[in-house]
Amino acid sequence: MNTGTTPSGPQAGTTPEIPQRTTAPADTSEPGALSAIPAPGNGQSEVPRYAPQWLQLREPADAAARSGDLLDPLRIRLADRAGGPADIVVHDLGCGTGSMGRWLAPLLEGAQHWVLHDRDPYLLHFATVGAPRTAADGSRVTVTTQRGDIGRLTPDALAGASLVTASALLDVLTAEEIDTLAAACVGAGCPALLTLSVVGRVDITPAHPLDREIGEAFNAHQRRGELLGPDAVDAACEAFTRLGASVRVHPSPWRLGAEQAALTEEWLRGWVGAAVEERPDLEASAEAYLRERLATCVAGELRVVVHHSDVLVLPQPSGGTS
Ligand SMILES: C[S@@+](CC[C@H](N)C(=O)[O-])C[C@H]1O[C@@H](n2cnc3c(N)ncnc32)[C@H](O)[C@@H]1O
Repeated sequence: MNTGTTPSGPQAGTTPEIPQRTTAPADTSEPGALSAIPAPGNGQSEVPRYAPQWLQLREPADAAARSGDLLDPLRIRLADRAGGPADIVVHDLGCGTGSMGRWLAPLLEGAQHWVLHDRDPYLLHFATVGAPRTAADGSRVTVTTQRGDIGRLTPDALAGASLVTASALLDVLTAEEIDTLAAACVGAGCPALLTLSVVGRVDITPAHPLDREIGEAFNAHQRRGELLGPDAVDAACEAFTRLGASVRVHPSPWRLGAEQAALTEEWLRGWVGAAVEERPDLEASAEAYLRERLATCVAGELRVVVHHSDVLVLPQPSGGTS
């Protein structure tokens, strides 16, 4: 589990100033997903869009949840990389507003350059503004952004990478996109730290008879349109293993109590909303369920554990250029 790994102090980047939303998020693939934006380079299709306010709200819980246990093997691999102590080059895929960099950059030593990838230019703007500036040892951290679709990622796009990261990304990808991502990382020969993928389990205390049915409907919703949702971690492990990389998985649950009430409320609305979108027959009972759950949350008596997993991928040391 996480061991005191939240970025802190004046050297860490600060969360960017994000205008507050005036309407609740629509019920799409995850709590906090907004309606849609046109896919880059394609006037026809649309892709889900994530509210920066949601990403900001979840950032402290994400930082507390990511597994600190995977950092030591990662540090060892980074220290051993070919080419010696040159700057670390990190490609953060699906960076959103940049929360992964704000967490990880201050935990790694040495000068770093982060390439922040996302298909949403609005989120890339916030990622640039809130970019981390300083590494664990005071070395400089710089960033650039790259707008594009992970479904088209190639090993060339990651040439020279020392590390690939992602956070809350795998479960919103398809099997094909995960295969593409794995092939690009292994082709580039660099390790990957892929954090905070949901695994389809939620524990809520006190228990309620509808918990399981809502959870199952939410999971089904996450699997819509070929997305992997809770199957993403297994799919990623299989894809990387097929390519000869070694994989370590570690739990990284959100543990939400009275101090995270604002996040819990927003998460509940999105979780129940997606379940009802999947199962309209649940609407009346889910409405009453949500009212009851929100009241318990406001009273400070609700505890929620949203289970996630982090994955560390280490390709064969001789396999590339990192
Ligand atoms: C749930 S958000 C997580 C954002 C950020 N990593 C964090 O932890 O706060 C998923 C992000 O992945 C991006 N994304 C999803 N699918 C993508 C794709 N196929 N290509 C590029 N970006 C994608 C979204 O725009 C969004 O910023």
